[in-house]
Parts: sequence; structure tokens; C-alpha cells
Amino acid sequence: APVQVKNILCIGAGYVGGPTCAVIALKCPQIKVTIVDLNKARIDAWNSADFDLPIYEPGLEDVVRACRGRNLFFSTDVDKGILEADLIFVSVNTPTKKSGVGAGFAADLNYVELATRQIAAVATSSKIVVEKSTVPCRTAESMRTILEANSKPNCRFDILSNPEFLAEGTAIADLFSPDRVLIGSLQTPEGKDACAALASVYANWVPTERILTVGLWSSELSKLAANAMLAQRISSVNALSAICEATGANIDEVAHAVGYDSRVGPKFLKASVGFGGSCFQKDILNLVYLSESLHLPEVAAYWRQVVEMNEYQKRRFSKRVVDTLFNTITGKHIAVLGFAFKADTGDTRESASITLIRDFLSERAFVNIYDPKVAESQIWQDLAEACPNLTLENIKKQVKIFPSAIEASRNSEAIVIATEWKEFKTIAWAEVYESMKKPAFVFDGRLLVNEAELTKIGFKVATIGRPT
Ligand code: NAD
Ligand code: UGA
Repeated sequence: APVQVKNILCIGAGYVGGPTCAVIALKCPQIKVTIVDLNKARIDAWNSADFDLPIYEPGLEDVVRACRGRNLFFSTDVDKGILEADLIFVSVNTPTKKSGVGAGFAADLNYVELATRQIAAVATSSKIVVEKSTVPCRTAESMRTILEANSKPNCRFDILSNPEFLAEGTAIADLFSPDRVLIGSLQTPEGKDACAALASVYANWVPTERILTVGLWSSELSKLAANAMLAQRISSVNALSAICEATGANIDEVAHAVGYDSRVGPKFLKASVGFGGSCFQKDILNLVYLSESLHLPEVAAYWRQVVEMNEYQKRRFSKRVVDTLFNTITGKHIAVLGFAFKADTGDTRESASITLIRDFLSERAFVNIYDPKVAESQIWQDLAEACPNLTLENIKKQVKIFPSAIEASRNSEAIVIATEWKEFKTIAWAEVYESMKKPAFVFDGRLLVNEAELTKIGFKVATIGRPT
């Protein structure tokens, strides 16, 4: 029969482990939830007295305030957590490999494997081990082999796959009412019992018809498939945006008309300067690698094109800026509004903004950055990584960070909107216009501003998916 879960451990206190397990603690006061991480600074931030949490998510602070110290604990003591838990989420990072076999495509499973080995080495009682990280198909099989080969007598490990579908910026809302919770297990009686144990945790707040139970491999593949299909929608609409710019069609009108078809649906059809974030590109490349390893080159090429279209979109946008500013931006000041990869997050991983700024710097422009949430130290770190040919000292000669959109725009030739922060809709444009060099340009990479209104003020506006 399924065990009654009383003590949950989450290994990895990042964007997924932190919010996910904090919400479990909130919704299941009868369960003790401990979140551990090797990164002490991160754990200290989760434990900070003034709730200065390591990640920004609307609503997250309220959840942590409600449970921390009650049934939610953050710690660096991984071993103690393993000993106490009856169910363990593995929610560590799985970045794209930078070297070795599959470099640039395959997922680096080192963190998953190290966490798995630690569970095997430390555990003295049976555990349900849940793969929460996004991993290639059949990773659960490897985890099971490692656990079984290293377990002590009377220790049983049941492996589940329970991929996470939350989006950053809306993590808490997504976790409170998920479209679905997906749990994959072996179809053995023990596997099904483990699955039922985890399902009963979610059943504390998720309607049972939204808790889908499937085989392990289907669960693992569904996660990669969901991200690939979401990203593919954006690349499709972005490909159409290039046609719009060349023909005079308007991408918002096209997306609206297409999305009105109930089979397509209206969401996730916003043309942009390109998708970013830690997962879309990583997971698609992972799928490409998987397809290639399975000798399916046509399938690999199909998915690879989604990422290539995204790269093209970013390149096309920075080229449009240069072309429109009379074919040179050398020595010009460009205000880049938004550095996060999307609104309502301080996360910058794979942000399109980084690529644009790198391109502007290589044209020897000056760049003024404003983002409402991203820490300055993060911006310097990202730019240093993106521009290995420049020293940080030289980057700082070309880049300045400002505390508001207005200040970043002053004396600039052009404004580039790179992130869809809501506050960019209500900028005092007339005032900004007065403070800029003329002609003053706005490049809207997020279909965010009212083009007619800005044009009336005097701006020259170039919007993605509309002809100049
Ligand atoms: P992250 O880098 O923010 O967090 C991972 C954490 O794991 C880090 O703090 C790291 O220090 C810690 N860690 C690594 N190895 C450890 C170990 N052996 N013991 C203890 N701690 C360890 O990553 P994330 O964004 O939370 O993503 C985690 C996984 O979830 C990835 O596989 C990702 O693909 C997937 N995912 C992410 C999102 C998202 O929105 N970010 C959404 C769905 C799925
Ligand atoms: C995405 C998925 O939406 C989640 O379901 C998934 O769990 C997660 O990846 C993951 O596996 O990490 P996330 O990357 O946090 O979530 O954010 P999204 O809202 O998907 O946005 C991704 C990027 O696409 C952003 O840069 C966003 O600005 C861009 N985007 C999104 C568009 O350009 N157009 C759109 O219509 C939607």
C-alpha cells in the first residue's frame, strides 16, 4: 500500500525547488518540508530575517513567511535531510554540457548523479526518489541503477518522474492551480504505490482529474515535448513577424486571427525579440541530441530549427537597430530597457537582452541599462561572460546601469525595449522625448508601446512584426 508521506526533502533550492516545495509546505501543513542546497549563500538568503529571498517571484515571499520555521526549513545539511525524509525531490540544475560528448546539446547530468549517489550513500531507510529536474529520457533508469547498486539492506528506492511546468514570473500562481501535475512511474505494484503516495501529496490542493499518472519514459519525454512545442509556437510567430515587416502585415493582427481558431488557441503567440530563459533552448537542444542518438536526423533537424529561428530573430533585431540608425551606432547611446529574460523575474539566463547588448557593444555603441529587478552584479557577470574579448573594465567604459527608464534614456539616440515589464507601458514618453537626442528612436522588441501615441510625440518607432 502507498506510504503516507510525512517528511519531504528537496535537493536544490533554486527557481524550481524553492517555490515548488514552499507551496507544498503551505498546502500540506501536516508534512515537514526541508529544502537543502550546497550553495550556502542561497540558503542564507532563504533564511534571511528580512525575507530577502534569493529569487524574485510575485507571491513567493508570502508563502515563505507563512511556513518558514513552521513546517518549511532551509538548510545546507544534505545528509541530515536525506536521513529524515521519506520522499526526496531531486531539483538540481541540468545545464547544457559545455565540453565532452554531446557538448553544446546534451544535458549535464553530473549534478543529478551526485545527488543520487549521495542519497544512496546516506539513506538508512526506504525512500521515494522523485526526479523533478528536467532530464533526458531514461535518466530515471540510470538513477535507479545507481541507487540499487549502492543501497543498504532493507532500503528500497522507488523512482518517480514528476517534471515541473511552472513558468518564472508566475510560479506561485502556476503552482497553486497547475494545468496538470504529471507523475511517471514504473507500472509495477511498487511503482504504482509510490506514484499514489506522491499523488496524495498534490491532492491536498490539486483536483484529482488534473493529476496525470503515466509511465516513466512518457513523463520524462512529455516535459521536453511541452517546452519544445511552446518554444516552437514562439519561433513560428517570430518567423511570421519577419514576413510582416517585409510586407506591411501586422504580426499582432495575424497572431490574433490565427489564435482565434480554437484548435490553435490565443496564448503564447506574442512575437518578440526572441525567447530566453534557462530552459527552452536547453531542453530543445536536449531533444535534438536525443533524436540524433536515436538515429533520427530529420527529427533532430526539425527541432533544431526552432532554436535557429530564435537566434535569427535576435540577430535580425539588432541589425534593424543599426540599419535604422543610419547604418552606424558607433559612439551612440542606446538605452536598453529590460535585462531579465521576461517580465516579473530577476532571472537573466539566456536573456535576449544580453545578446542585443553584446551586438551593440561590438558596434562600439554606449549602452544604458535599466531593469526593475535584476541586480547590478548579475548584469556585470552576464556581460563579462557574453563578451569574453572585453575586460570588465572596458565593458564598464561602454555600459552604464541606471535606476529608472527615464534616467537611462536621457541623452540617448534610441531606446530598445527588450523585456515586457508592465511599467514600460506607462513611461512618461513626452518627458523622455524631450531629454533625448533627435531624431529619437524607439525599438519595441515586445509589442508593448502605443506606436501612434509615440509617433505623435515625435518618436520614430520600429516595432517587431510591423514595417518601419
Ligand atoms: P537552479 O540552478 O536555480 O537551482 C538548482 C540548485 O541545485 C542550485 O542552487 C545548486 O546549488 C543546487 N545543487 C546542485 N547540485 C546539488 C547537490 N548535489 N546537492 C544540493 N544542492 C545541489 O536551477 P532551476 O532553475 O531551479 O532548475 C532546476 C531544474 O528544474 C532544471 O533541470 C530545470 O531544467 C528544471 N526546470 C526549471 C524551470 C524554471 O523555470 N527555472 C521550470 C521547470 C523545470
Ligand atoms: C517555460 C515554460 O513556459 C514552463 O512551462 C516551463 O516549466 C519552463 O519553461 C521550464 O521548463 O523552465 P519560462 O521559461 O519560465 O517557462 O517562461 P515563459 O513564459 O515560457 O517564457 C519564455 C520566453 O519566451 C521568455 O523570454 C518570454 O518573454 C518569451 N515569450 C513567451 C515570447 O516571446 N512570446 C510569448 O508569446 C511567450
